[in-house]
Amino acid sequence: MSAVAATTGTSGATACGKTSGELRHVAIIMDGNGRWAKKRFLPRIAGHRKGIEAVRAVSRGAREQGIDVLTLYAFSSENWRRPAEEISDLMGLLRHFIQTDIDELDESNVRLRVIGDHNAFAPDLVALIDAAVERTSTNSGSTLVIGLNYGSQDEIVRAARKLAGRDPATIDAAALEAELDTGDLPPVDLLIRTSGEQRLSNFMLWQAAYAELLFVDTLWPDFGKAALAEAVATYNLRERRFGGL
Ligand code: FPP
Repeated sequence: MSAVAATTGTSGATACGKTSGELRHVAIIMDGNGRWAKKRFLPRIAGHRKGIEAVRAVSRGAREQGIDVLTLYAFSSENWRRPAEEISDLMGLLRHFIQTDIDELDESNVRLRVIGDHNAFAPDLVALIDAAVERTSTNSGSTLVIGLNYGSQDEIVRAARKLAGRDPATIDAAALEAELDTGDLPPVDLLIRTSGEQRLSNFMLWQAAYAELLFVDTLWPDFGKAALAEAVATYNLRERRFGGL
């Protein structure tokens, strides 16, 4: 089935038995902030700051395109290996983003969600994130998911722990999937990585089982509404078969 056909209502079953119609879920590995800054002889934080502008633009673009779920990989469970100063800068930017953008997200009927173990963050930041998630929890227009201290393998291990002790005969793909941080979200249809790198870096390994992968050379701070529209157009040309013919 082509993605174009999918938008006309024909649906294909995923490995998990869910049906996939139009482009519902886009997930992005936002890469290249550091290189964007380096090219301009700026500190890395300048790239991350510009990256936040791209987050805003792409999240608005996704709403305009009618995409139900946009998932952004903001801080991986491996990013703790970065210098303390950069980690602190990223936390500061995240704090600022939530404080300044929560009104617009709420007014735009966006439900904010977090995947990953964000409880490892500073208590005040955890409280800020939790309040933003709670405030927007009943919004129904679209969902913005942010990966914070997220690692796919860690997520699967946490899900497996929740299932431990159950009768093994009752454990199937749907049971495990329900325990993932994304349990109630649709599978990823399109996974984009910016900056020319071609890796998944422990991101949505389960959820992207049948995703179309798109690696673009654009550095994340230069990615915006137009680049998202181009990615969607590329997706619409792909043929999705979900293991069938
Ligand atoms: C990758 O670029 C980017 C990150 C590790 C962080 C992404 C974070 C943001 C855009 C800001 C916070 C996001 C939200 C949603 C509030 P890199 O630093 O690895 O770039 P490089 O590979 O060029 O060095």
